[in-house]
Amino acid sequence: MSRLVVVSNRVAYLEKKNQSGGLAVALGDALRDTGGLWFGWDGTVVEEDEPRPAKTCQQGKVTIATIPLTKQDYEEYYVGFANQVLWPVCHYRLDLVKFETAYFDGYRRVNARLADALAPLLQPDDIIWVHDYHLISLASELRSRGVTQRIGFFLHIPFPPPGVLLAVPVHQWLVKSLFAYDVIGFQTNIDVLNFQRVVAENIGGKVLSDGRVMAYGRTVLARPFPIGIDVDSFVAMSHTSAAEEAIERLNRRHLARSHIVGVDRLDYTKGLPERMKAFRRLLELYPDKQKTVTLMQIAPPTREDVAAYTDIRQELEQLSGSINGEYGDFDWTPVRYMHRNVSRERLAALFRGSEVGLVTPLRDGMNLVAKEYIAAQDENDPGVLVLSRFAGAAEDLEEALIVNPYDIDDIAHALEQALTMPLDERRSRHRALFRRVRERDAANWRNSFLAALAPHDQGAFA
Ligand code: ADP
Ligand code: F6P
Repeated sequence: MSRLVVVSNRVAYLEKKNQSGGLAVALGDALRDTGGLWFGWDGTVVEEDEPRPAKTCQQGKVTIATIPLTKQDYEEYYVGFANQVLWPVCHYRLDLVKFETAYFDGYRRVNARLADALAPLLQPDDIIWVHDYHLISLASELRSRGVTQRIGFFLHIPFPPPGVLLAVPVHQWLVKSLFAYDVIGFQTNIDVLNFQRVVAENIGGKVLSDGRVMAYGRTVLARPFPIGIDVDSFVAMSHTSAAEEAIERLNRRHLARSHIVGVDRLDYTKGLPERMKAFRRLLELYPDKQKTVTLMQIAPPTREDVAAYTDIRQELEQLSGSINGEYGDFDWTPVRYMHRNVSRERLAALFRGSEVGLVTPLRDGMNLVAKEYIAAQDENDPGVLVLSRFAGAAEDLEEALIVNPYDIDDIAHALEQALTMPLDERRSRHRALFRRVRERDAANWRNSFLAALAPHDQGAFA
């Protein structure tokens, strides 16, 4: 029987209940069932620079193996190449790209170091599943250390079209590195099409009719595998007696009759300033909404060593303050903004207690919050999801109210429509959305990826 080895930059500790980030949440959900090895960075930064073996610990059926990063590695690989080159490029933000040769060197060096630490832990029958943009070159590093096991890669964030990717000076190297994998998974059809275009138009490769791509003497499978959530556990979390109490408290404390909720890492891709402006526009265009609606935005800190993230924090604080100053009253605070992580139970209750889920990223790989909001609803009296057309989730969740996240008026009108939607329509939209969220849950994502990666071993991890 094969062992599943998951590799990601950040490793989540399974017993910690309030971690944010789609990757940590989805992989935690996926690995809890199968067990296996989870390898990556332990989240710490150390001064000295000497090679060290991975530290391991056991959490249920999962062995967690981690290494720290040196200060230089952290700055060049994580803050530099991953978060100031790859992240903005993949989210179509060329204006925020800061390419430096040292960042690229750091990226290659850390991928090589991770390969050095992982290779001795591998067993002959392992199936290796590598995650996200931090680790694009890991497979080629492992291959050069004699690793012949099947290796798959899943990109959690969007893959940009050629016109955007080509702005990265080392784009050819990135694409070539991907060809060391056996399976490359993307979130959506659009990402796959963008990748196929780069292969066919820019590196002299070929796209075969069965979804495989050929280049650099290798043929690999490139397909969408839309990520999902653990639906049952989210439904259960949102229906506990503690959740009921939290919802009651929410309603008692705030005089507003309706709640709009947003939950996102404080990232410039999430469209948070536009969202605040749209809420202000709602109050302007529909004065009857004043004193009756509250926007609750939870936006925990993230990547604070990158300048673009401190800028967005200031902008958001200023916007929420100005809306509250302009519209607030003794008994009504229009915007409630929290800059921290909260427990997943608390989030589930907040989703269930809110009439509208507002998910308006300017660009997003998938967006699990959209799926969690749907899973948390009471099927007899569900809330309405307002969703950006540029979230990967919109490819599937078409019964949401789909908006253009750059168009403030469009979002404001959708909010009004959501807040006044008749019960029958809310129910029928929610039924369709819930069915799709359930069909494409975390287990389905994991099983379909692993079936593609280890075709002769189907079910080996179940
Ligand atoms: P991303 O991967 O870009 O952060 P996703 O929406 O796909 O975006 O995933 C975010 C995950 O992190 C979701 O599971 C969400 O519930 C969780 N999360 C976001 N904000 C918080 C928070 N303040 N506290 C706890 N969990 C959070
Ligand atoms: O899902 C996107 C993602 O970039 C993950 O790879 C990452 O773990 C998460 O967002 C949070 O970001 P970070 O690991 O940089 O804190």
